[in-house]
Amino acid sequence: MTVPVITVDGPSGSGKGTIGHRLADHLGWHLLDSGALYRVTGQACLQQGVDWQDEPAVAQVARNLDVHFESAPTGEVLVILAGEDVSRVIRTEEGGRGASTVAALPSVRDALLSRQREFAQAPGLVADGRDMGTVVFPAAQCKIFLTASAEERAERRYKQLIAKGESVSLPRLLEDIEERDLRDSSRAVSPLVPAEDAFVIDSTARNIDEVFAEVLEKVGEKALI
Ligand code: C5P
Repeated sequence: MTVPVITVDGPSGSGKGTIGHRLADHLGWHLLDSGALYRVTGQACLQQGVDWQDEPAVAQVARNLDVHFESAPTGEVLVILAGEDVSRVIRTEEGGRGASTVAALPSVRDALLSRQREFAQAPGLVADGRDMGTVVFPAAQCKIFLTASAEERAERRYKQLIAKGESVSLPRLLEDIEERDLRDSSRAVSPLVPAEDAFVIDSTARNIDEVFAEVLEKVGEKALI
């Protein structure tokens, strides 16, 4: 039996994490947060003293990753690396830098490929990432690509961090986002680009409910609900 897959790709801050979670909850399907796997790989390197640029060593770390996801009673998904809850530390700006550095290494992407495909289990999978529709699940039944302007994404991130009580600079965040976009979209393997058959949805200046309604419409067009 083919397990249905919906891919939700896009840059950070485009809303794909929120939309992916909401969609998986709505459908009662599994969720793959592929970014978390790259973030955990970066974190495991830090723990093991492996340089993020040392491709063979990072690929080895990725192959042996002892990671699993747990649902907390609050509904939050916990990321457990070798028995330790790393959910928060991987979401820091440094965690993001580590993820996008190791994600540019072809053998690391290769090492994580089969692990990602194993998430496709009945009744279905919502896969959130950068290359879900192009590389990991090219035969997915429905592909969504979310975008938003870099300024809007920096602003969203700024509000999130301020709400958490962190002191951050908006221009610095915008610079980080632009740097990460460039690294993600210009890398040789699995660059951040929409699949040819993806629905591209721009979330700039639209709230999450409006975007979710449009995503549901697209999913409906593919007769998945
Ligand atoms: O989605 P998230 O912000 O957690 O992803 C962190 C980083 O991991 C991204 O900036 C990107 O470099 C990398 N990534 C990737 N391919 C994916 C998911 C994430 O290269 N499918």
